[in-house]
Amino acid sequence: MKVLVIGSGGREHALVWKLRQSNRVERVYCAPGNGGICAAAECVASDLHSLDSMLEAAHRIQPDLTVVGPEGPLSLGVVDEFRRRGLRIFGPTASAARLESSKSFAKEFMYRHRIPTARYAICDSADDVRKNLDQFTGHIVVKADGLAAGKGVVIARNREEAVAAATDMLTGKMVGEAGARVVLEEFLEGDELSFLVLSDGERVTPLVAAQDHKRVGDGDTGPNTGGMGAYCPAPLATPELLDTIDREVLVSTVHAMKRGRRPFRGVLYAGIMVTPQGPRVLEYNCRFGDPETQPLLMRLRTDLLDLLDAAVDERLDEFEGKLEWDPRPAVCVVMASGGYPGAYEKGLVVRGLAEAARLPDVKVFHAGTRLEGDRVLTDGGRVLGVTALGETLADAQRRAYEAVACISF
Ligand code: AMP
Ligand code: GLY
Repeated sequence: MKVLVIGSGGREHALVWKLRQSNRVERVYCAPGNGGICAAAECVASDLHSLDSMLEAAHRIQPDLTVVGPEGPLSLGVVDEFRRRGLRIFGPTASAARLESSKSFAKEFMYRHRIPTARYAICDSADDVRKNLDQFTGHIVVKADGLAAGKGVVIARNREEAVAAATDMLTGKMVGEAGARVVLEEFLEGDELSFLVLSDGERVTPLVAAQDHKRVGDGDTGPNTGGMGAYCPAPLATPELLDTIDREVLVSTVHAMKRGRRPFRGVLYAGIMVTPQGPRVLEYNCRFGDPETQPLLMRLRTDLLDLLDAAVDERLDEFEGKLEWDPRPAVCVVMASGGYPGAYEKGLVVRGLAEAARLPDVKVFHAGTRLEGDRVLTDGGRVLGVTALGETLADAQRRAYEAVACISF
């Protein structure tokens, strides 16, 4: 089979790496890929903001299956367009991906279907915001409604900060169009968990519970980023807790989406806050997490193509209780450009990759890199996802940092 992966980050490098291990895969293509992916797959130029550009890539390649990495193409309707043209594709339609592309849609959906989440108010103007603030005490979470690549959430310490953040969003100053509507939310305290499942529209196959590090600094400090690292399995995720999240959140969501005529096929990722009152949904993602996918796929032993095929063909029941995992935990450490998530330099030479690659049970996934001749150059904020398996989480962490120490840019 020919498989096309859409995207250009660490998650897509991990997908390409894992798909290549399938016996049934003859060739893997990636649109547009990055410096590391181009060594493992055939990269084709593509503009992920343009449906025509992605369709054109598929037209040239004629893939037997396309796998979509990021949320942008999903919300544009890449799955709808490919299916209309008879191209098999893994991922939710634009209307199912609303769970991620509109926070107000997601909140109203959860409220209607009694899926546990923080109290909220949806606001279209600064006046709305002021009127609704009385419902909240203490910290208030202000979120842009639309897709904002992890930059649309502000945790305000008081009313003034909440009004200021909401105003920056509503006027387009902070995240453009994505902030034309905002959601205010009660601040929840607890530990965060990323729970990823596969769905074929009807059934739910749990993949993994992971934790990611959102803030840029050590000790969970500094601004939110797209994710500085991740590990799985998460010790916090007891079987009882996972069972509760599976039933109360993921199965309920998939069934309600089906009843609402937006069947969800693809990866559903619930960002959960584990509070003393139980798990609460912070957000839905309609795709594999980045960087959660890197440690997840290091541990997955089941053939990924078989799994994705089953989700597309609505026969995930074949995999019930049958997923195989490496029992060892995995840790991914993201190496980012100096200055990220603010301004940073690009085009620096990355050294030490060959040395890191020689370490056992370590895989360096590329995120923001590009090739120039035989040199690898930095090309984004998150540059590499250095991922390692270990006998324990601490051992996996030690191995990942051993590989990090080999690399410089
Ligand atoms: P989101 O994009 O909705 O996942 O939000 C990004 C991050 O903001 C989350 O990973 C949390 O760390 C934090 N966050 C979001 N919503 C809340 C909330 N209601 N209470 C506390 N923290 C939150
Ligand atoms: N790791 C966060 C995300 O994928 O959205």
